[in-house]
Amino acid sequence: MLHKDVFEELMNEEELDKTVSDIAARINADYDGKELVIVGILKGSAIFVADLLRKITIEGVQLDFMQASSYGSGSVSSGNVRIVKDVSCNVKERNVLIVEDILDTGNTLSHIKEHLLSKGAASVRICTLFDKPGRRKKPITADYTGKVIDDLFVVGYGLDYSERYRNLPYVGVLKAEIYS
Ligand code: XMP
Ligand code: MG
Repeated sequence: MLHKDVFEELMNEEELDKTVSDIAARINADYDGKELVIVGILKGSAIFVADLLRKITIEGVQLDFMQASSYGSGSVSSGNVRIVKDVSCNVKERNVLIVEDILDTGNTLSHIKEHLLSKGAASVRICTLFDKPGRRKKPITADYTGKVIDDLFVVGYGLDYSERYRNLPYVGVLKAEIYS
């Protein structure tokens, strides 16, 4: 099947670059003179966090990763979050910024945020490329948001559908007939 039959473009490379630059500028201002640990959530944020980190100018910024699973291989959240990979650095008394691809029901990020706070992080903020507030089940908001979107399933730039399409340099909306 051709890509154009599967999804429609939501954000092109130029728009993604501008979005990431705008977020980075806000983070650079907010954490100026502070210590910062960026925690990318695998696998969806891999490309976003890589691009974002290169625009972060905070001296001594560190990068770590976590992986949680709540979605299975399809597009329906189970609400049952499990930490598959924990951070390897010590977050105690440090400022943590979680970087996620998409905030959907909020199940994943509320679990991860609680987890990092329970490890003694001084502060935990959330940066997400996309936010689907209409689907929220947990009272959680992001501190930095790239784009607020409707209840659409998006792929590309790290985001997948059944592990496919992460390689696309842009973000597309998956047509409903593909996953329904
Ligand atoms: P919750 O519901 O816990 O889900 O906020 C967050 C995780 O769900 C995945 N997710 C998506 N992945 N396109 C994707 O590729 C989407 O439209 C989408 N919506 C949710 C994502 O992995 C995120 O970490
Ligand atoms: Mg994800």
